[in-house]
Amino acid sequence: MKTLTLNDLKRFLEKTADCDSRIWNSLVNCNLPKNRKGDIPLLIKAMSKNVIPQEYTRTYFNEIKRQEEEIREKGFKPLFLILSGDIGNYKTLMGVKYLAIKTVTEKLYPLFLTNDELLGLYNGSLELQQFTDDITYAVETKITPSRTHYEFWERIPFTAITKFYDIIMIDDLEEDAVPALEKLILQAYDTETFIIVTTNIAPPSKFIGTEDSPGLLSEKAISRLLECGIAVHVVGTDKRRGGRDE
Ligand SMILES: Nc1ncnc2c1ncn2[C@@H]1O[C@H](COP(=O)(O)OP(=O)(O)OP(=O)(O)O)[C@@H](O)[C@H]1O
Ligand SMILES: [Mg+2]
Repeated sequence: MKTLTLNDLKRFLEKTADCDSRIWNSLVNCNLPKNRKGDIPLLIKAMSKNVIPQEYTRTYFNEIKRQEEEIREKGFKPLFLILSGDIGNYKTLMGVKYLAIKTVTEKLYPLFLTNDELLGLYNGSLELQQFTDDITYAVETKITPSRTHYEFWERIPFTAITKFYDIIMIDDLEEDAVPALEKLILQAYDTETFIIVTTNIAPPSKFIGTEDSPGLLSEKAISRLLECGIAVHVVGTDKRRGGRDE
């Protein structure tokens, strides 16, 4: 089967979702990992028809939609999506797909961060820098070791990240970065920035706690998640070794 290229994807999104150059450039420069050839494998895999099995997309995207509607019916805005589950069952790819679709259809400024990037930005070892194109207003983001500075690029302090982006994905959150996520949730609630988290910390109730055990997040963050959060427990075995669900 022919694999999708970035150009195919661009043309497809221009045709089906009216994706203009600002949105396209902001999406491909949102810090999603690029390889040496300039490709973005996660974006390509996530948007290809033949990688995430259809039953996954159908089940989990319907579940997300159902929870989004529930939040809206209560008069709130969906702001947090947690995709939590075991290793290798398409959480990252589904998160990237959701990020890309929402970015394009709602014309948003997106940002992608790994667990370690979030942690580095939080503890100050990394710095987030942003360049806005004067003509198209597309945004390009770089994560650099702190004290590296690019001319014409704006430094965004950790405390202001959600002011500059509409949608932020944290990929593969681990316990060490939970305090950073906590701060980001509080910021995102105030700026109405959408946060997507993929994680092996499962089930999602670990974040908010149960009657028997306290949650990983503070009461303040939990209160916001309960109002505006979508929690999805992704089940299924590791697909990296060609594993199949029965
Ligand atoms: N048809 C396919 N084409 C390409 N890659 C595939 C295909 N099917 C499965 N994979 C592999 O399965 C992996 C599983 O997806 P993904 O990385 O989204 O899992 P995950 O749930 O985020 O895993 P983890 O919990 O380890 O972060 C993909 O990255 C990819 O390498
Ligand atoms: Mg992953």
